[in-house]
Amino acid sequence: MPQATYHFPKGFLWGTATSAHQVEGNNTNNNWHKWEQEGHTNGKSGLACDWWGGRWREDFDRAAETGQNAHRLSVEWSRIQPAPDRWDEDALEKYRAMLRGLKDRGLTAMVTLHHFTDPLWLAEVHGWETEEVVPLFEKFVRKTVEALKEYCSLWCTLNEPTGYAVNGYVDGGSGAFPPGQNNLRLALRVQANLIRGHAAAYRAIHQIQPEARVGFAHHYRSFAPQRAWSPLDRWVQRNFFTAVNLGFPFALASGIMKTPIGSIRIPEAKGTQDYFGFNYYTREVVAFDLRKVNTLFGRNFFRKEADMSDNSFLANEPEGMYEGMKWVVRTFPNLPILVSENGVECADDHIRPRYIAQHIHQMWRAVNFNWPVKGYFHWSLTDNFEWDLGWTHRFGLWSLDPETQKRVKRPSADLFAEICRENGLSSAMVEKYCPEVFGELFPS
Ligand code: BGC
Repeated sequence: MPQATYHFPKGFLWGTATSAHQVEGNNTNNNWHKWEQEGHTNGKSGLACDWWGGRWREDFDRAAETGQNAHRLSVEWSRIQPAPDRWDEDALEKYRAMLRGLKDRGLTAMVTLHHFTDPLWLAEVHGWETEEVVPLFEKFVRKTVEALKEYCSLWCTLNEPTGYAVNGYVDGGSGAFPPGQNNLRLALRVQANLIRGHAAAYRAIHQIQPEARVGFAHHYRSFAPQRAWSPLDRWVQRNFFTAVNLGFPFALASGIMKTPIGSIRIPEAKGTQDYFGFNYYTREVVAFDLRKVNTLFGRNFFRKEADMSDNSFLANEPEGMYEGMKWVVRTFPNLPILVSENGVECADDHIRPRYIAQHIHQMWRAVNFNWPVKGYFHWSLTDNFEWDLGWTHRFGLWSLDPETQKRVKRPSADLFAEICRENGLSSAMVEKYCPEVFGELFPS
């Protein structure tokens, strides 16, 4: 059997990613809390991973003890600004303590300023549906960055803004995010305002901290036409790709938001990205379907023979990661890439080791072409509150029982630890944790 190690460049960031509402617990002043109380979710976030109660300490210990050198977390707008005219200095102090906690453990911090949740006071007026949100978001960003800049210079303005717009405003997505609307035009308006908000935040952060690196986390979704020969399936593929992948990042490069039904000029967005935050999970097949009016006649599903996650939420399709990176380097040359999320839901961990190894292998292929991939954040450190799906979808390197708060290490945590320590993926690791993909990753 061949013995080899796929190494990564010196200084590569290895860590996990989390988000405030999914881990903090007792987060009661935002639109998701309300959404949960209204019964739209499969269970409630409750205590989550109890980070607000202080358990971030033990979880950061876990990250550090397993060789990770970075962590991506988010701050909760509704905690920092509980009302439009009120700042909570204690909340900011708590976030400072967390970031100090990362620093003390030798972990580089990446801070996301908006990860899906909005303060109730914002959601109750107009959310991101009107441009009035832009100065409000900028004000929150200024206050937060001023308070946290001592510990962080790697900022992510928004997590998956297109997903926020699609899941909250288009039926064709899961339709399961607040405010539960079904209106494509409104979704596009929301996305345009998110772009304006990002641009305002980008400038504000650079004013406060000139050395900052600012980007957003883009959910890259890979789409394959069901019948490659079919012009209709290919047309759907192009529409999905434009709507989901191109709209947001292209606007930051050009000042123009492209949509399948026209373009919107947002000139202030041009040149507001210092790195490309790349979230990648899966690949979907798409086909033309006359019944799908709301999604411009497109239907999406997974390959029949795909390697599926526990609840068939994701298909393990590692090549899509390489394909996405290729698209990033060609479309946005010179932007460093950070894999800001990648992971799979699996309670008994049978799929996760191979999912990790196969995706890291694809990332290594990209690095070999000198594509500027600088880090990888696995989703997630421990199981956490998976939005509308609640607690059924387990993404953690550690399992978590939200009732008892007990964490149990999954084998994947050990595999990831070996990768972080080695700064590479070796044949011995694959043989030990996921021998079923040995031949694929290390062909003789
Ligand atoms: C989101 C996370 C979520 C993960 C797994 C990403 O799209 O940023 O908040 O938990 O996917 O579904």
